[in-house]
Order: sequence, then C-alpha cells, then structure tokens
Amino acid sequence: MTHIAVLGSMNMDLVAYVDKAPQRGETVTGREFHTIPGGKGANQAIAAARAGATVSMIGAVGNDGYGVRLRDTLEHSGVDTDFLRTVEGASGTAHIVVDDEGGNSIVVVPGANGTVDHLSPGDESVIATADALLLQLEIPQAAVLAGAAAARRHGVRTVLTPAPAQPIAPELLAATDLLVPNEFEAVTLTGRTDPREAAAALLDLVPEVVVTLGATGSLYLARGTEPLVVPAPRVRAVDSTGAGDTFVGALAVALAEEKPVREALSWAAAAAALSVQRVGATASMPYRQEIEAQYTA
Ligand code: RIB
Ligand code: NA
Repeated sequence: MTHIAVLGSMNMDLVAYVDKAPQRGETVTGREFHTIPGGKGANQAIAAARAGATVSMIGAVGNDGYGVRLRDTLEHSGVDTDFLRTVEGASGTAHIVVDDEGGNSIVVVPGANGTVDHLSPGDESVIATADALLLQLEIPQAAVLAGAAAARRHGVRTVLTPAPAQPIAPELLAATDLLVPNEFEAVTLTGRTDPREAAAALLDLVPEVVVTLGATGSLYLARGTEPLVVPAPRVRAVDSTGAGDTFVGALAVALAEEKPVREALSWAAAAAALSVQRVGATASMPYRQEIEAQYTA
C-alpha cells in the first residue's frame, strides 16, 4: 500500500460564514460559526488517507481541548499519529471568514506548530519508509528543510506546497522534487504575473511544478516536457478552505500509485472539486470511492 508521510501544521479552524467579509473598521453579522479541524499539514494528511494511502503525520498539537480533537480527527481518518507530539500551550488556530462565494480570508496563529523547528527522534525513520513526504510552510522552515533533507537521504520524493506565501530558503527548494504553488504563491516566488511564465521560472529551481489554478484546474511543467493544462470539474463552491490541500493529498497518492501525470492531476482535481462543495477543510474531504465516482479521464 502507498505510504505518505506529512510533516506540517495542525490548526483548529474557527470559521465564520458571512455574506460579505468585513472591511477594516467594519463589523458584519455572520450566518454561522463552526470549529473544524484543519491546518495545511493535517489537511493534506487526511486528504491522502481518504484517497487511499497509509499516512503518518509528524507535527505538534497543544495540550488543550483543540489538540485532543485534532489528534482524534486524524485517527478517525486512519492517520498514524505516533509521531504527533503534544506540547505545553495552545494548539494552532486559524481564524477564517468564508463569504457567500465560498472564498475566504485567514489569520493563522501557529501555537504548537511554532515549536516544530527540528526533527525529533524517530521522525527520520518514518520519513525513510514513505513513498513521498508532503511539506508546507505553516511550521518553521528549519524543520521543513530538515524533513526534506531526511527524505533526500532515503530517496523519498518531496512535495512542497509553498503556502502561506513567503520567501523560501534556496536549500529547501534544492531538496524539493515537486513544488505545488497556487497562482499567488507562484507569482510571489518568481515576481512574474503570468502563471505559465511563473511556472517556467520555477523550473529553474525544482524539477517538477504544478500550479493550481483554482476552478480552472492546474498547470503541470517538468524539465524537457511540454506543459500540461488539466481542467477541473465545474462545480458550485460553498467553501474552498483546504481545497488546495485536498488536491495535493490526492495528487501525492495518485502519483505514488504510478498513475500517469494527466490522470493523477485530473483525479486530484476531482477530489478538490468535491471538497469545495461542502463546508470546512478536513470535514469536506472526499473518500476514495467518491473520487472514483467523480473522476472522468
Ligand atoms: O490550507 C487551508 C488551511 O489553511 C486551513 O485549514 C487553515 O488551518 C489554514 O492554515
Ligand atoms: Na470545503
């Protein structure tokens, strides 16, 4: 069976659903409030587990109620939490406003995620046995780099989601096999405004790039091959929180299963399209059977 390791964040998402997000100085009345487990690391872990992989999560939660719920949620989705530490203090939280078009704005307070600035004993051994290591930037980059370096030592494919957008240490990019930015992140990393040009510029830094284009689909580039544009199913979005993470989790599973790239991208797009039609990050992620039913070659 495919084994995916994830090194990254876990947040409790505190989500207010509104008609229109407030401007600075403005107060608006929301429709609903939900607390939903999320965080880019946990999201990718749960997406990959539901897509059919054995998944190990490396990271930290706080010793508060949110930490208990985050751990439980991972376990209920079948994610191995043996390498998930509980540390003194608050779990990570994400303060999210979702508008009636399904778009969002997010403030992340790292909490326990901020303590993950190095690998702990045992982390390298679980990374070594994985088919791929999924990384994001919601924990300190020092740990992301240590994880990528460990993966490299064992010939494990590294997949980096460069989010939230920020400058990335050149050593980290040098240890990345597949980079999966959205358009905004691709632009931030390269200074180019056209996603195709940005992706092409990123190929100077990493061997493979997938730029996620939201409802439009994705763009794949690898050195020495023609660019590939793979559309996404047309659906009505109610909450796109975690859609990018769903895409990456499903994509990693499909690639580890050696599906051809176009098929893997289309499969990941089907997973993401299912997730945007339901509220919440982890709460909205589809199981393998649903992806298979939605997927069209
Ligand atoms: O990528 C989506 C995630 O970003 C949310 O679940 C939230 O926790 C934020 O970190
Ligand atoms: Na969703």
